[in-house]
Amino acid sequence: MNWVLITAFPLELDFTENGMLEMELEGRKFTLAKWADVYYAFAQKCPHASGRMASGYINPLGQVVCPLHRYAFDMKNGRNTTGEGYFLKTYPVETRPEGIFIGFKPNSFF
Ligand code: FES
Repeated sequence: MNWVLITAFPLELDFTENGMLEMELEGRKFTLAKWADVYYAFAQKCPHASGRMASGYINPLGQVVCPLHRYAFDMKNGRNTTGEGYFLKTYPVETRPEGIFIGFKPNSFF
């Protein structure tokens, strides 16, 4: 796993009202979310029909809901909690004293 620094200053991350923002690091685009003081990272686009996940919302159960057709996904493991059978790519996130890091598998571009 290659750990890449997202930011050394988490309080300066410019989350929108829905608690998400889009980022690109090392050529990989992803969504960063903060919910209940925990950071999550997952694909920028929905696996169903490419809805921009950062334009959706996080429901009271802490699942990200796609803005296009409202499919919901567990932000930890990408499981499609509304049961349509899709899988949202997720990335591990670690909060360390020196900042927030995202883990990329070598040569994983999706
Ligand atoms: S594009 Fe996301 S639910 Fe259809």
